[in-house]
Amino acid sequence: MITILAIESSCDETSAAVIKDGKVLNNIIANQKIHEIFGGVVPEHASRAHQQNIVPVIATALKEAGVSKKDLNAIAFTRGPGLLGSLLVGTSFAKAFALGLDVPLIEVNHMQAHVLAHFIDEPTPKFPFLCLTVSGGHTQIVLVKDFLDMEIIGQTQDDAVGEAFDKTAKMLGLPYPGGPMIDKLAKEGNPLAFSFPEVVMSGYNYSFSGIKTAFLYFLKEKKQENPNFIEENLNDICASMQHALIHILLIKLKKAARDLKINEIAIAGGVSANSGLRKALQDLALKEKWNIYIPDFQYCTDNAGMIAIAAHYKYLAGQFSSQDVIPLARMSF
Ligand code: KG4
Ligand code: ZN
Repeated sequence: MITILAIESSCDETSAAVIKDGKVLNNIIANQKIHEIFGGVVPEHASRAHQQNIVPVIATALKEAGVSKKDLNAIAFTRGPGLLGSLLVGTSFAKAFALGLDVPLIEVNHMQAHVLAHFIDEPTPKFPFLCLTVSGGHTQIVLVKDFLDMEIIGQTQDDAVGEAFDKTAKMLGLPYPGGPMIDKLAKEGNPLAFSFPEVVMSGYNYSFSGIKTAFLYFLKEKKQENPNFIEENLNDICASMQHALIHILLIKLKKAARDLKINEIAIAGGVSANSGLRKALQDLALKEKWNIYIPDFQYCTDNAGMIAIAAHYKYLAGQFSSQDVIPLARMSF
């Protein structure tokens, strides 16, 4: 029996999960409320909150899973990418815990883990598949050849799509994190009420900084005409911007799937929780004859369950880390 404790601390969620023989037993997540006050993640506050939460979160995960420390065969942690101060808390804890228990240490790439979240529950995608990984810091199209064999074939050249959601929300005066709020308001709005210019990048790459700037000027102009423009049109503005962002995401995904002749398509990362994206993907899948895979909500945003499943496959492959491993704010694969 392989039992692994996994820790995620790359951004503003402190999370721990226990996995036994490839089955994720739980997924404990402590959200950091402090960032709402500042309208975004403040790195120093995030590190402190991780420091405060990490022991209780891990103790809860072990207790809830009915697993004692001596049952653990390995300790896994997110090495990167993410906020360095946040990663340091999880990394240091994992190293000390593994050393104390005399068990192997397993580093996990956060972005690979978002993809591997698809192997937590059935149905699982068949290799090779394409995964559109969309989060607050990344926007990638990943060609997944095997559990630990993936290639980024396209990615954003500037802002991530989650960032575009969050900044749009901020410009509209909505609370952080803006993505879920836009999703909610968009449900009541007309997606075709307004249109925004979309920048088309080469290959399978993305760019979201242009649409963000266009949105800023759009609001400025409309507010000059009518100071109550936002209040009077909030749902339509959210629906239109969400529609534009989803449109940009799916054009490149469709191109990659057609070019590579792959019809196993997955989405992952925080933005994959977006109901508009989920619906648009389902509609596109019918037209393109894709088999699509959308994670359970708890495995879309940052969570240790995905770190646990990635660690399980790394354990099977004998991929362990040494005690001098350091976290990396930027980390590719
Ligand atoms: O994967 P994640 O939890 O953290 C990173 O690794 O970045 O993604 C967080 C991002 C944030 O930008 C958040 O606004 C966005 O995911 N997000 C959403 C939704 N839920 C979370 N964006 C749009 N619609 C949602 N329902
Ligand atoms: Zn993430």
